[in-house]
Amino acid sequence: MNKLTASNISKTYQSGDHQTEVLSNISFSISEGNSIGIIGYSGSGKTTLLQILAGLETPDQGDIFFNEINLSSNNSNNFNSMRGNLFGYAYQFHYLLDDLTVFENCNLVFKIANNNKVNENSKRIIQILDELGIASLQEKYPYMLSGGERQRVAIARAVVHEPKFVLMDEPTGNLDHENAEVIQNLTIKLAQNHNIGIVVATHDLNYADKLDAVFRIENGDLKSA
Ligand SMILES: Nc1ncnc2c1ncn2[C@@H]1O[C@H](COP(=O)(O)OP(=O)(O)OP(=O)(O)O)[C@@H](O)[C@H]1O
Ligand SMILES: [Mg+2]
Repeated sequence: MNKLTASNISKTYQSGDHQTEVLSNISFSISEGNSIGIIGYSGSGKTTLLQILAGLETPDQGDIFFNEINLSSNNSNNFNSMRGNLFGYAYQFHYLLDDLTVFENCNLVFKIANNNKVNENSKRIIQILDELGIASLQEKYPYMLSGGERQRVAIARAVVHEPKFVLMDEPTGNLDHENAEVIQNLTIKLAQNHNIGIVVATHDLNYADKLDAVFRIENGDLKSA
């Protein structure tokens, strides 16, 4: 079973002459098909950890492994060559492109990867939009959507290319209770249906309760919650 491992990760941000140690020697792993919640106060380092896991931010110390492969080793470009296939990322602020429709926003993932299997990709996009209950919105532009709908598009975009792991940063942020619950259940079902490992940074303890394991970041440490 595929496994993603963070090993002894530390990260300090420097701003001016002020240093903030955000992550201090953090280790954990997640297997394909499992779900992990990362909780902690605002500013505790949840986004930083997700970005390091996906290779979007570099740790000061420590490594990220996919099975036995060190993705972050200095003399390899494993992260660059493998990131596209391994990971899907749903950003805290969704970063949908305003000039593209819902379908085109999802299709961008394939375009960036130079994947020209148009029919296959279209089918896959529509299948995922359908699973997320937004197939009818595929020709709409982001400005025409509600916050919850946009959130679902961001999630669809993170999974259309069949990644092994999906990192979701506050997927239920800014949603009312009812919509948050819909997204909670949809993401968990999506992960189960497609055997995807999901790591969710969230303030939503109802959501965290539904995941296989929950960790809290506190003063740079990662503790079982
Ligand atoms: N690029 C950066 N440069 C300097 N400091 C940063 C940078 N990114 C984050 N930080 C700081 O690191 C800390 C952790 O930020 P991070 O975004 O990981 O927190 P978070 O747990 O995701 O918070 P939230 O719940 O508000 O999203 C904060 O104090 C933040 O100000
Ligand atoms: Mg954050």
